[in-house]
Amino acid sequence: MEKFVIRGGKPLRGEVAIGGAKNAAVAILPATILAGGRCVIENLPCISDVMASLQILSELGADVRMLSKSTYEIDTSRIELTEVSNELSRQMRASYYFLGALLGRFGQAQVAMPGGCNIGVRPIDQHLKAFTALGAKDSVDYGMIRVESAGLRGAHVFFDTNSVGATINAMLAAVMAEGLTVLENVAREPHVVDLANFLNMMGADVYGAGTDVIKIRGVKSLHGCRYAIIPDQIEAGSYMVAAAVTGGDVTVRNVTPKHLEPISVKLRAAGCEVEEYDDAVRVWRTGALRPLKIKTMPHPGFPTDMQPQMTVLLSLARGTSIVTESIWENRFRYVDELVHMGANIKVDGQVAVIEGVERLHPAPLRATDLRAGAAMVIAALAADGTSEIDETAYIERGYENIVEKLQALGADVRRVEAPLGALTRAV
Ligand code: EPZ
Repeated sequence: MEKFVIRGGKPLRGEVAIGGAKNAAVAILPATILAGGRCVIENLPCISDVMASLQILSELGADVRMLSKSTYEIDTSRIELTEVSNELSRQMRASYYFLGALLGRFGQAQVAMPGGCNIGVRPIDQHLKAFTALGAKDSVDYGMIRVESAGLRGAHVFFDTNSVGATINAMLAAVMAEGLTVLENVAREPHVVDLANFLNMMGADVYGAGTDVIKIRGVKSLHGCRYAIIPDQIEAGSYMVAAAVTGGDVTVRNVTPKHLEPISVKLRAAGCEVEEYDDAVRVWRTGALRPLKIKTMPHPGFPTDMQPQMTVLLSLARGTSIVTESIWENRFRYVDELVHMGANIKVDGQVAVIEGVERLHPAPLRATDLRAGAAMVIAALAADGTSEIDETAYIERGYENIVEKLQALGADVRRVEAPLGALTRAV
């Protein structure tokens, strides 16, 4: 089992290049099924969720060819299978996007129920609501979700909850449904817009992505295309916070500054400088960190996937901060780890009250999920000593080459193979 060893206390300085957005990639890769032809997808991050998506495509019968580390050619013309194996489905939560894509092209699909994860129950009622509205029948048994339809027809769907996943799955199923589909109360995240742009490059007729209402006129067929995934705003935000917390000066390249606005606004309010360029942002800090009130909201609100990282920053601010998590019911599990480091944080349900402290102390840490893992790295970079982080596979799922990127910024971090079963602290 691998762990990170980080000697903190060094300000990060220099430049870091951001990869393609994980949450766009895991939607666009299944969407290539709708083309029934050859797509070339560029700027794919080299992370396990992308590898899992490519493996599923290949198992379904697609020809998947690596053209470079971040570019793959995917020919889905010969796909015949419509069932994703239980084992592959369970490798990542986003495997449920294969439901919408396979249903949209073949009129049927079967994928394992997505596991819950450490941030909360992961229901799919809104996904099924959209599929049913479009004329599909769904059944769930033995942990497998099956959807089928003799012919999808456009529908008017008003989502009860603002859901990224349900919005994306509905788009995938609707692009070749007969007639007009109107989706209301949809997610507006950058990766939803990226998927809409990709679908339209394949010949779909999707408009309104990025607003509360998406309209889709069904087309008879789609064709392959070449497409580059947008930069990952959460990976970028994580490095921005790391620069701020360590008192460094970092230029984050290959980003879309507009996508980072909810994060930049909060960093400036916390006393940081954030300078925006065409495809980069520079973050540095001159004075003390200031306390904030933050509530996570669907885009364009403050992203829940930046909540753990921002809580680390606020644990070192001068004063009392309040963080309210409004999206997930169990996204403060990592706080115990920060308290072991000397942070003063009290969690009551969806609210964390943070009394800033002078410094964090090193400790044996554990990544409880992907973004909490990123927060542990940031906390260890700020701590005055050497920390160890285990369960780092979570972190590598969403942060390509994080150790190498941090080393290039001057961090003292290394990967270490921990003997199996080695415990970094009494459990
Ligand atoms: C996506 O998850 C992201 N994952 C998550 O990022 C992110 O936290 C989340 O959106 C919110 O932005 C991917 O894109 C792969 P939701 P998703 O459906 O689609 C409730 C990361 O770290 N809900 O927008 O699963 C749900 O319980 C991950 O990269 C229903 O009630 O999130 C939650 O409270 C973690 N019924 C809220 O909606 C449904 O059918 C938002 O969930 C679906 C969701």
